[in-house]
Amino acid sequence: MTAPPALPPGPTQHPALQLLRYSFTPLAFLEDCARRYGETFSFHLAGFPQMVMLTRPDDIRELFRGSPAVLHAGEGNRVLTALVGETSVLVLDDEPHARQRRALLPPLKGERMRQFFEAMQAEALATAQAWAGAGPVRADRAMQRVTLRVILRAVLGVDGGPAFDALETSIGRLLDVTRNPLALIMYTLFPPARFDGSRLLSFYRRRRVVDDALYHVIGTQRAQPAAARPPGLLSDLLELTYDDGLAMTDREIRDAVITILAAGHETTALSLAWALERVLAHPAVLTHIEAELDTVCGSGLPGPEHLDRLVYLDACIRESLRARTILALVVRVLKDHFTVGGFTYPPGVVLCAAIHLLHQRPDLYPEPQAFRPERFLERRFAPHEWDPFGGGNRACLGQAFALYEMKVVLATLFKTLALARPPGAVSRPVRRGIAIGPSDGCVVVATRK
Ligand code: HEM
Repeated sequence: MTAPPALPPGPTQHPALQLLRYSFTPLAFLEDCARRYGETFSFHLAGFPQMVMLTRPDDIRELFRGSPAVLHAGEGNRVLTALVGETSVLVLDDEPHARQRRALLPPLKGERMRQFFEAMQAEALATAQAWAGAGPVRADRAMQRVTLRVILRAVLGVDGGPAFDALETSIGRLLDVTRNPLALIMYTLFPPARFDGSRLLSFYRRRRVVDDALYHVIGTQRAQPAAARPPGLLSDLLELTYDDGLAMTDREIRDAVITILAAGHETTALSLAWALERVLAHPAVLTHIEAELDTVCGSGLPGPEHLDRLVYLDACIRESLRARTILALVVRVLKDHFTVGGFTYPPGVVLCAAIHLLHQRPDLYPEPQAFRPERFLERRFAPHEWDPFGGGNRACLGQAFALYEMKVVLATLFKTLALARPPGAVSRPVRRGIAIGPSDGCVVVATRK
């Protein structure tokens, strides 16, 4: 019998215990491993293959440049299949992945985002209205509402109406389940391959309600002539043909829409909540943002023409995505031997870019615990050095959308409200499904300026 291949060092505890530690204290677990075992280490979570964490920028660059045929991200994202569906770009690999990705790229292109400026600002203004004088409020819940309504508006091409309202409620309820900190443990105990469709699990009951609403909208828009459809991503997808001339099926459209809603909503909401938390914890940074907004926008609201000139706010967003990276790692399942950092890994191992640890490297970010937006004004970071959106052929398709939305929402909130944290407020990074959010939801108090 041959011994299993040696991997970089890592914890020797039982895999069930490692899963518990990674589920309940993900960042502490990763940081503890890095301290004990060095820049490259491995661990084993019960129910998952052996995982190797890469934290050196050069290694992460090699990983993102590696062949997509050897490095399967979709297989590593399988945990999401029950939500996003079998044909989602997130869970596919090889040519089926490339085909879906080519289809989604044009509707999510950077310049399309400008079309959604008004929707983004309208939601931020509604939040400002609700917060002003209301006492302490949780920013994460408000940002979830903002980002869900913005992405729904972008997908459906309409604001409000029965389809919008039905989807807002049902998707909000479905994604609530995925925020559970025990999500990974639930996945191990109730693998979707065996429990898919079970009426006993609230996740599947809620998914059915969402699917009914979505298929109804898809059917309604499909029946309309193209020119009569509201101008949103759904209408783009209905028009789209793959390279082979085939149109997307209803099932593929459903999976694409859920993917965009799921990937684009909670991620952006948590990143916004963290950005507020980081800025409000640093009064000098807040003063600098407000001064820039006054200089660039004068006494009015920020408009689309001002955004490029808000360079300090842009640096704050980048620094916040570094200091509070919401997706601590991205995964690639090896289909063949792969060499990186002088080590050849065997098939079956999951190689991960440990983005949280990359972002905490003192050689890249001196005093990594400090919140210093100036870092991003003093030098440019390469994609393998600043990497909240992953990389290579799997880099986030919504990066332009997310950065644009964060800027519009933050500029509008900081321009219209005097924001502060209540005395003694503390936000620890805790698990929310697969993402990392603030333990207190980032409580803020606001008065109108
Ligand atoms: C601040 C907000 C966001 C963050 C931090 C974020 C982060 C990420 C990360 C780390 C990945 C995995 C990349 C990899 O494996 O290398 C990813 C993938 C993806 N994201 Fe985002 N994302 C955000 C917002 C969005 C938005 C707004 C959308 C859609 C409008 C979106 C759509 C996607 C899609 C479709 C993928 C899968 C790409 C593929 O597998 O080819 N994301 N994102």
